[in-house]
Amino acid sequence: MDEFPPAPLLEVKDLRVSFQVLRGVTRSLIRAVRGVSFSLERGSILGIVGESGSGKSVSTQAVPGLLPASAAVSGSVKYRGKELLGLSVEEMREYRGRKIGMIFQEPGRSYDPLQNMASVFLETLRNSNPAVGREEAAAKAEALLGETGLPNGRERLMNFPHQFSGGQLQRIGIALALAQNCELLIADEPTTALDVTIQRQIVELLRELRKNRQISIIFISHDIDLVADISDRIMVMYGGMVMESADSPVIASAPRHPYTKSLIAASPRFGSHYSRERLVPIPGKVTDPARPEPGCPFAPRCTQARSECAAAVPELRPLAPGTGDFAGKGSAVTGKGDCVNTGGNPAHTIRCVLEGGELCP
Ligand SMILES: Nc1ncnc2c1ncn2[C@@H]1O[C@H](COP(=O)(O)OP(=O)(O)OP(=O)(O)O)[C@@H](O)[C@H]1O
Ligand code: SF4
Ligand SMILES: [Mg+2]
Repeated sequence: MDEFPPAPLLEVKDLRVSFQVLRGVTRSLIRAVRGVSFSLERGSILGIVGESGSGKSVSTQAVPGLLPASAAVSGSVKYRGKELLGLSVEEMREYRGRKIGMIFQEPGRSYDPLQNMASVFLETLRNSNPAVGREEAAAKAEALLGETGLPNGRERLMNFPHQFSGGQLQRIGIALALAQNCELLIADEPTTALDVTIQRQIVELLRELRKNRQISIIFISHDIDLVADISDRIMVMYGGMVMESADSPVIASAPRHPYTKSLIAASPRFGSHYSRERLVPIPGKVTDPARPEPGCPFAPRCTQARSECAAAVPELRPLAPGTGDFAGKGSAVTGKGDCVNTGGNPAHTIRCVLEGGELCP
């Protein structure tokens, strides 16, 4: 048996991203990501959920170095133990697109309208192996399209982007990531523009790829039900910070943070259009990253806010022993002594003054 557990595939620590922008005639500092940490094991799926502007895209675009040059980035992003922050464009090529693939909300925008798919696959495969020939590339592309659920691959390679539906383009995006043997796939709202049936098919495809290829996935969405369905763990973000993080069944059935509870109450559940269940919108506006609140960013909208909430940003703490359900997989925590150092559930963390979790020293 290994003396030490294997290192995570991806380990992000205290990631901070800000942008200097001009608002009217004054310069403002946009604090888009404010100290985000998470890790991802090989073959696991992490869901990131939160309202628009909560920092989901910026915190994940920092991983393969996709942020614009105007972004000030600090913290640490380790891939298989190798620090990625600060790598040169040349060094980053080894990771971006190859080991780390990305798919986005509007797949059509990633393609040149004048390039057919045979040529897109040839170019992509030549990134990893410049010697690959046209016939070999076409055969590989056909196999990958089959694996991602697009039949008649040979014929479809002759088609141009406008000849595919949104769902088909999303499958092609995934096939292109596989063409470079990616180990980590960052899927930023990959199903938002698709209808519900196609959404489910893409989610099913991602699940199969995780099972068959041991790919790790970061799945970003506004839809907490969908995220709970696909992910092993969920990270709930608000105001550029993690508000709550736990195994998906725990978040879905026993959320603790007022913001997570509000997101669930505001989320249309499958079939709820036909039930009497009422959606409860979250009142108020999301936090302004140029003028973040001094305390909890959710305080202006939180029905449980009290005076100390506005004083300082609460720390992200493990849930205190005896206060949670501790039902999550990998979190068999029963009481004091079960946290890595002292009491608390390290698998369920929460940023709220209402949860008096003891910090592991
Ligand atoms: N290039 C940029 N320059 C300035 N501000 C930016 C830039 N990119 C993102 N931001 C700001 O950073 C904050 C976080 O943005 P981000 O795109 O990560 O949000 P998000 O959670 O992905 O939202 P959505 O659900 O709408 O995609 C937002 O306030 C956004 O306006
Ligand atoms: S810290 Fe206060 S304002 Fe923030 S979520 Fe908790 S109760 Fe609400
Ligand atoms: Mg986004």
